[in-house]
Amino acid sequence: SPSDPDLVERARAAKEKLGSKVFVLGHHYQRDEVIQFADVTGDSFKLARDAAARPEAEYIVFCGVHFMAESADILTSDDQKVVLPDLAAGCSMADMATAEQVAECWDVLTEAGIAGQVVPVSYMNSSADIKAFTGKHGGTICTSSNAKRALDWAFEQGEKVLFLPDQHLGRNTAVRDMGMSLEDCVVYNPHKPNGGLTADELRAAKMILWRGHCSVHGRFSLDSVNDVRERIPGVNVLVHPECKHEVVAAADYVGSTEYIIKALEAAPAGSKWAIGTELNLVRRLANRFAPEGKEIVFLDKTVCFCSTMNRIDLPHLVWALESLAEGNLVNRIEVDKETEAFAKLALERMLALP
Ligand code: 13P
Ligand code: SF4
Repeated sequence: SPSDPDLVERARAAKEKLGSKVFVLGHHYQRDEVIQFADVTGDSFKLARDAAARPEAEYIVFCGVHFMAESADILTSDDQKVVLPDLAAGCSMADMATAEQVAECWDVLTEAGIAGQVVPVSYMNSSADIKAFTGKHGGTICTSSNAKRALDWAFEQGEKVLFLPDQHLGRNTAVRDMGMSLEDCVVYNPHKPNGGLTADELRAAKMILWRGHCSVHGRFSLDSVNDVRERIPGVNVLVHPECKHEVVAAADYVGSTEYIIKALEAAPAGSKWAIGTELNLVRRLANRFAPEGKEIVFLDKTVCFCSTMNRIDLPHLVWALESLAEGNLVNRIEVDKETEAFAKLALERMLALP
C-alpha cells in the first residue's frame, strides 16, 4: 500500500535536517515505506559490514531487528549512537537462546568431557550476550551468507561445533554444503535436562545444534515445494537456509536475502521463481522484476510477514528521525562494555573469514 504522503514528507524533512549526522540502514525484510529512506540496504552480513561505513554519522538508525542494532553498536565507535525505531522489534529465534541456557549447555559439554573440542559458531540472529559467549570460547559469528566459511574455519580450530541458535541453518550448512550426514548432527534442547542428550550422543556428534528456529521460515514445508512445482511447471524454487532441511533439500537454490536478490537480477526473462523467505522482500522483488517478464511468486501463501521486522513502520521511523532532529536521543541500543569486547571478538572473526 502506498505510504501516507504527509509522513513521507516529514521523514524526508527530518532526514534532510539531520544531513550527514544520520545514517539509515535497512534490512531487506523491511517494509517498502521504510526501505525508501534507507541509505544502505542489505542482508545481515552486509549491514554488519556497512554499519561502520559512515564514521561521521552521530546517529545510526537501524531499520531491522534488535540483534542487528546491537551488532551495529558493537561494530561502531563509542560516540556513534545506534537507534532502533521500535524497541519491540526483536527476533523470536534470537530469544530462543539465553545466556543462562547457553552457560548451562557449556557445563553439560564440560561434564561430557568434550568442551575442549567444541568451537561455538553463533548465527548473527542472537543476542549480544550469546555473541560474547562465542567470542570468549574461541568461536565466531556467521550469517546465512558465510555459514560454510565459518564452519570450515571452526573445524580447523576444533573437532566439534556448537551451532547457536538456528538448528536449520546449522544442519543445512553441514549437510548440504559440507558433506556431513544427518547422523553427524544432534539437537540440544535447552528445555530438557542435559539438553535431552546422553554423554555418548554428545561425544559421537560433530555438530551440536541448538534447538532454535525462525518462526517465519519454519512454516514453509515440503508440501509448499511440491504444490508450487505442480502449479507452475518449470518453476525454480529458491529458499532461505533458515527453512527446514527437507525444504532446502527439495529446493533448487538456497541462499541469504542478498543472494536471492542477486539470483533474480541474473535470471533470464521468462523464468519463473517461487521464493521461500519473508513476504515484504518477495513482494518487492515480484513488483521489481515483473516488467522484465520474470514471474516471481511466494512459496507458500499461508506464510506471512516477519511480525517483528514489520514493527518498524513509517510512523516509528518518522518519530525517531524527528526526535533526533530535535536533539532527543530516543530508543538507543547500547551494549555494555564487557559484553561488547567479547562480542566484538566474535564478530571480527567473522569479518576476517576468507
Ligand atoms: P539474511 O538477510 O542475512 O539472509 O538474514 C535473514 C534473516 O532472517 C534476518 O533476520
Ligand atoms: Fe528473526 Fe525469522 Fe524474523 Fe529473521 S525472519 S528476524 S530470524 S523471526
